[in-house]
Parts: sequence; structure tokens; C-alpha cells
Amino acid sequence: MPYQTILVENQAGVVLVTLNRPQALNAINGLMMEELLRLFRQDLPGQTDIKGVILTGAGDRAFVAGADISEFLGFNQENIETFIRRGHQTFNAIEDFDRPVIAAINGYALGGGCELAMACHFRIATRNSRFGQPEVNLGIIPGYGGTQRLVQLIGKSRGLDLLMTGDMIDAETAEQWGLVNYLVEVGDEIIKAREMIEKIADKAPLAISKIISTVNAFYNKNKNGFELEIAGFAALTDTNDFKEGSKAFLEKRKAIFKENKFQGSVTPWINFSNALPLCYFSRFGIETCH
Ligand code: COA
Repeated sequence: MPYQTILVENQAGVVLVTLNRPQALNAINGLMMEELLRLFRQDLPGQTDIKGVILTGAGDRAFVAGADISEFLGFNQENIETFIRRGHQTFNAIEDFDRPVIAAINGYALGGGCELAMACHFRIATRNSRFGQPEVNLGIIPGYGGTQRLVQLIGKSRGLDLLMTGDMIDAETAEQWGLVNYLVEVGDEIIKAREMIEKIADKAPLAISKIISTVNAFYNKNKNGFELEIAGFAALTDTNDFKEGSKAFLEKRKAIFKENKFQGSVTPWINFSNALPLCYFSRFGIETCH
């Protein structure tokens, strides 16, 4: 089924996803959230040739200026929870995706836009980008994981500052605070993101996937990251890529990783009717349950 709010292009294994509602500064409406969920839970996981995903905003003003405020007036306490949980599922799917996902931020990353960027594994921002969680100005709080991921990335003091004042920070401050990995000139964000994905694509795919799931476990109170590290390390020693990596080092040559290119690594069980729970099964067992 074609997408209506996002553009998806597979460019030699690097998937460029453009959030495409420039008339509303790419604000995330309900349909865009559904389409992002479908992309990361259904459409991308089975594609074994994908090296990584880049998210960026259409136009030259914004990555994403937040959730679409024009939909807000229809919300009430009864119907909002399903909506918010769907946002959590989507952003968790991005965070748990087993190949690198990079936010190429080209302008405003506010509210849900900052939250979306934070759910990605890396953030590359143009120098004119601006970041903030202005929900407090609307009488609400971030609803797509922002209260948690912001504090994970920049700490409690700075996190509370942005959350309670609703202030925006510039890209340089975002980089100094650890919200952004790299700053680039306008127009270079996709180039830099693609370079990172190509560099990571040279590594052993299953090791990359394990790094993502093990690091994410640090932030999941229901998981024991140390135990997952032990199990993950043990499982990886059973792969040909591990043997190739060690052999190549000893033979003083570049390792060529080709085994287990994510074959069957993610088989989603999707239940759209009641929204929860969503579980992923990998060749190493259950990876994720939200
Ligand atoms: N939801 C819906 N529409 C939005 C939007 C959002 N989050 N952010 C921007 N837009 C729309 C504006 O309504 C405007 O539409 P219009 O041309 O039909 O009037 C268009 O995008 C351009 O935005 P505008 O406000 O005119 O641009 P600006 O340069 O004056 O200000 C921002 C840019 C980003 C500072 C301002 O748009 C803003 O504060 N947006 C909301 C940010 C926010 O609170 N996000 C969190 C939501 S929970």
C-alpha cells in the first residue's frame, strides 16, 4: 500500500524516509504515525538488503515541528491513550530496529519531532536546527517517550529545564549537551548520515543488531542488560562472521562479513486491533516486547 505522508526511497540499500507534510512543518498526524509504524514493523524488517535508514524532513524549514496540533481538540482522556500508545509503539520500533536509524535534522525538531529524533540511534543536525519540547506551552507533556529519552540523553537538570520552560535550544547547544551526535552545514546532513550507515554496513550485521538490543536494554527496567550481553556474546561466537573477524585480524587483512545478513532476524507479530503487546522474535529468542 502506498504511503501518503512519507516518501520512502531505497537508495542502494540505504532507505531515505522523508517526512512529507511541509505545509505543516512536517507535523506528525495520526496517519503519519500509522505509516511510520507500518514501515518499521512490517515493511522494512523483512528486507535483508537494507543497510540502514535515514529520516529527514521535507522542505528547508523543519525536521518535524511536533505532533499535529490541529488534531488535538478531538482528544479526551478516553481516546487519547490509544493514540499515545501507538506513538510509543512506533518510536520503540525505530529504537529497536536492528540496523542503524539516523535522524538527519534539517530545521525545527520540536515536541514529537525532537522525540522522533531521540528514538533514532544517531542524530545529525544542520547548524540552523532548533530543538525543544514546547508541550508545556499547550498544557501537556511530551507523549512519545520524550520525558524519558531526553533525560537519558542530556541528563535530568537540562532535561527538566527544556521540559519546564518549553525553551528552544540551537544546534550548537544541542551538540554540546549530547542531544546531537554531529553538526553539519545545511545540505550535508544526508551525506553524513549515509557515510555513517556505509561505515557500519562494513561490520558484522548480527553484532550491530546485538549492540542495539543490548544497549537499549540498559533503559528497560524489565531487562537485565548484563545478562543479555553475556547471552549475546555467546550467540555471536557461533557465527561465521565471528570466525571471519578473528581470522582476518590474525591474517592482517580486512574482514569480509557476509554471513547471517539478518536472515530471519526479525519476524514481527503484529496485532493492530488491540495495539498491545507487540513482540519480536529473533534467531536468539524474544528480543522485544512492548
Ligand atoms: N501542528 C500543526 N501545524 C503546525 C505545527 C504543528 N505542530 N507546527 C507548525 N504548524 C503549521 C502552522 O500552523 C502553519 O500553518 P499555516 O501556514 O496553515 O498557518 C505552518 O505550519 C507554518 O508554521 P508557522 O507557525 O506559521 O511558522 P513560524 O515560522 O511562525 O513558526 C514554529 C515556526 C515551529 C516556531 C511554530 O510553527 C510552532 O511553534 N509550532 C508548534 C511547535 C509545537 O508546539 N510543537 C509541539 C506540539 S505538541
